Formats: sequence, C-alpha cells, structure tokens
Amino acid sequence: MDDVKALEAELLAAVAAARDLAALDEARVAALGKRGRLTELMKTLGGLDPEARKARGAALNQVKDTVAAALAEAKARLDEAALDARLATERLDVSLAAAPEAEGRIHPVTQVTEECIEIFTAMGFALAEGPDIEDDSHNFTALNFPPGHPAREMHDTFFLPPRADGEKLLLRTHTSPVQIRTMRGRTPPIRVIAPGRTYRCDSDQTHTPMFHQIEALVIDRHVHMGHLKATIEHFAAAFFELPTVQIRFRPSFFPFTEPSAEVDIGCARSKDAIRIGQGSDWLEIMGCGMVHPNVIRNCGLDPDQWQGFAFGLGIDRIAMLKYGIPDLRAFFDSDLRWLRHYGFAALDLPTLGGGLSR
Ligand code: DAH
Repeated sequence: MDDVKALEAELLAAVAAARDLAALDEARVAALGKRGRLTELMKTLGGLDPEARKARGAALNQVKDTVAAALAEAKARLDEAALDARLATERLDVSLAAAPEAEGRIHPVTQVTEECIEIFTAMGFALAEGPDIEDDSHNFTALNFPPGHPAREMHDTFFLPPRADGEKLLLRTHTSPVQIRTMRGRTPPIRVIAPGRTYRCDSDQTHTPMFHQIEALVIDRHVHMGHLKATIEHFAAAFFELPTVQIRFRPSFFPFTEPSAEVDIGCARSKDAIRIGQGSDWLEIMGCGMVHPNVIRNCGLDPDQWQGFAFGLGIDRIAMLKYGIPDLRAFFDSDLRWLRHYGFAALDLPTLGGGLSR
C-alpha cells in the first residue's frame, strides 16, 4: 500500500504546482484521465484476489477522492486569479469622455474663406482686419462717398443709436473700410486681403442681413489694371479648381475706385444649375477698380507716388456657386441636417498642394 500513498503525494504535488488552468488540466488528465496514473492502477484491480481487491480498491478510491477535491479547490483558486487578471487588464475608466464626436462639420463659409486665404497668401498677400462696428468716416467718407451722395443709400445701412456726441456708429456695409485702416496703419508697398462679416438691411433668397466679403488691396509704385486682371483671373481659376476660366470686365461705378469694373465669370445656366468654366453666359462675382486718388490722399499717401487696385467679393455668393447651394438664408439657420449635407470634414483643411476642396 505504500505505493498508493506515494502516488497520492505525487499527484497532490502536481496539482499544487499547477500555476494556471491549462497546467491544472494537464495534472487532472495525468491523474484521472483515461490513461491517467490512477485509472491505470484501477484497471489492475481485476487481477487481485477478492480480499486484496477490496482493500486496494478502497485505498485507490480514497486517493481519487482526495485528488479530485484538490483539483476542484485548485480550479476555484485559479479561476478567481484568472478573473482578477482579466479585470485588471480590461479596466474601464467610466469618467473618461466618450469617443470624440465625428459629426462636427466645417461650415461652407469657413471652408471658402480658408480656400481664398490659401490662394491669396500663396500669391504674397497678408491678412488684414477691421471692426464690424465702424464709423461713418471709415465706411463712407474716407472711401470718397461725399456726404449726401446717393451711393450711401444703396447700402441700406444698419445704424446704432447715436452716441452722446451725436455720432452714429454703424455695422460696416462692406469690407472696404479695411482699405482705409490698412493704408493708414502700414507703409506701402501693401498687399492684403481682409475677409470678414458685413451687414445690410436686406433679405431674400440671395441676400441676408449679415453676409461675408473678402477685400483685396494692393498699393505700390507701378501698379496698373493688368495686375488687377491677372490677379483676379488667377484667383478665379484656382478657386473653381479649373485650368482656365473666362473673365469679363464691365465698366461700373464705385466711389472709391477709378476706373471701376464689375467682374463676370463665364458659365452655363440650366434650369436648376450654374456651371462655371463652360457655356456662354456670364455671372457677376465681384467689384473692382484702381484705388481712387482721393482715397489714397485721405490715407496720407501721395497719389502721384502710389497707386493700386482693390476688389471685393462676396464669400457666401462664391460658396453657393462652387458648391451648388441654392438658398443663402439656409447658411445661417444652424440646421444640422443642412450642415451635414453641405459641410466639410473637420480636419481636411484646404491647401493648394493637397487640393482645395478635395
Ligand atoms: N465694397 C463694394 C461693395 O460691397 C465691393 C467693392 C467694389 C470692393 C470695388 C472693392 C472695389 O474693393 O474696388 O459693394
């Protein structure tokens, strides 16, 4: 019977030595499996005489129970350790923010502003800015709108309540006052663009009380209309992402430019779409001209030394054209369904190298 006692000790040691569930299962199979040590010994009982078989059988069963109990106890212990290990590695910090919202979209006005900035800065323009709340002088007088001139009425200006000194500030009706601030604040040569919000009391499918413009201003010693034309042509082709576009200059009037022109771009119109870069129709996209000598003088510069050109274009308008957006008012409705449809992926910044709109 000593061999049974020794076997029991050996099997229990193997169970105790198992470090994980796989090792424990090996110990179980080695002891109690079909070819296990105990099983094999059980098979030898048949060859013994009845007396010896009874005694040895009881002893072997005893060992079997002891080993089975040890296996069960070890399994419970290792199960718990495995669970602890899993809990430690799969720990979830519920105080962390949820996965970032991938729904946010860039508004077409922001996208188109960035596209324009990208094109003009590559041409050597710097950014300039001015306040949304302007005074009459910057918005009109310094830009050569004489007092009482009918052109002031064309702008449908929003005025603020008069100040104590009687002056009425206003919401700028165009970005052109940034021309004045720039010429007074920097020494030429000047090459700037000024994107920003503008305001007029107007509202229909293509007008909203607040809208966006980009002003461009170049002041140097030998600037002429050829520079203006080339700049606008290059801009239009780059913006509409076409090899060439048709551009037409129509004589016009603005108090702050002489001569003045309106710029049309060649397009094809069908019932529900306008296609830029083809067809025989024209669509107005901006106003421009050579900066009026009075404006240059009003900013303390000598118009015999310095000339330049300027232009102003509506950001919302070219956004509608480029991206086929039919109604301007929807730009400012904060309707998320609209933004999901017309918006741009948050991290796809427009670049000339990588494609403006991709
Ligand atoms: N300020 C004009 C407007 O809002 C647009 C404009 C026309 C700007 C001619 C210019 C320019 O700089 O030269 O109607």
